Amino acid sequence: MKELFGKLADGTEIHSWSLANGGTRMKVLSYGGIVRSLEIPDRRGHYANVCLGFDNIEDYVSASPYFGALIGRYGNRIGKGEFTLDGKTYRLSVNDGENSLHGGGTMGFDKVVWDIEPFTKGPDVGLYLHHTSVDGEMGYPGTLKTKVTYTLTQHGDWRVDYEATTDKATVVNLTSHVYWNLAGEGSGTIENHELKIAASRYTPVDPGLIPTGEPAPVADTPFDFRRSKAIGENLRETHQQLLYAKGIDHNWVLDKGISPKPEWIATLKDPSSGRTLRMATTEPGLQFYSGNFLDGTLVGPSGRIYRQGDALCLETQHFPDSPNQPSFPSTVLRPGQTYRSTTVHSFSR
Ligand code: BGC
Repeated sequence: MKELFGKLADGTEIHSWSLANGGTRMKVLSYGGIVRSLEIPDRRGHYANVCLGFDNIEDYVSASPYFGALIGRYGNRIGKGEFTLDGKTYRLSVNDGENSLHGGGTMGFDKVVWDIEPFTKGPDVGLYLHHTSVDGEMGYPGTLKTKVTYTLTQHGDWRVDYEATTDKATVVNLTSHVYWNLAGEGSGTIENHELKIAASRYTPVDPGLIPTGEPAPVADTPFDFRRSKAIGENLRETHQQLLYAKGIDHNWVLDKGISPKPEWIATLKDPSSGRTLRMATTEPGLQFYSGNFLDGTLVGPSGRIYRQGDALCLETQHFPDSPNQPSFPSTVLRPGQTYRSTTVHSFSR
């Protein structure tokens, strides 16, 4: 089902698509492919929207820190907004100090209008989202044709499949930027949520949040989520990495590495409601961001303001700054190849 959500300044109509299957309900905008609401039941069967967002298009356009959006062409940061590929240096749109964040500037994939087509496949329902980014857009080489598939399965899982092709060698790293609060959007801090991540190493960063290049063990650091623990448990320790990021904003090196099929990598649980999110992915990395830059200036559909730590993001991806880090798994895509990535979100209570 599709309804008008609002209009951009140039008159472009933005639609909101509604899907429901297997006990999960979601709403997706053509603008940015944004998941503006995802509703799941708690242990007593009460539904809540567990994603931060806005109830109007104007806030999404002017103020959104990527709430629910598709991220491209490159998830997270590329240092100094440049990289060299096949001997040629490309300068990207810089939008985070001296770095390029989440595809950069005015035409990141979170800010474009996607072509959306609904589908039903056996017991599953979903949306195909298409976008073509022209050669040179935001500084990236190659015409990048992107197709993202959002599927709601008969079990209520939300599956995201990404595909992209190019006509020139380029770099690609697509992800989704949902801000989770399993107690419900606007209900306060996520510090009591419990998180487990199947990773023994993470990538420490410099003060600009660019990886230094050497993965470090999580053992004996606040970054150890190998056993499930409350997010707030070590969040206020005076660890240099927490100081740089005002909390957690780091990439975990998933123990499983790149996998041909999605494999389980993380479980997030809100003990108060019982709502639980399990994630599986084909990707080698997970960016866990503890909502450090939410500062009480944005108001959600609940009418409540969002403060620091009122949500967290779990972004499956290749590692930040890979185009400048020869030791990281490659993000290069060449003509004739197809970029593929899948992440599955399963819900229980
Ligand atoms: C990044 C943060 C950034 C946030 C934007 C996250 O993916 O890691 O550093 O501030 O996105 O809202």
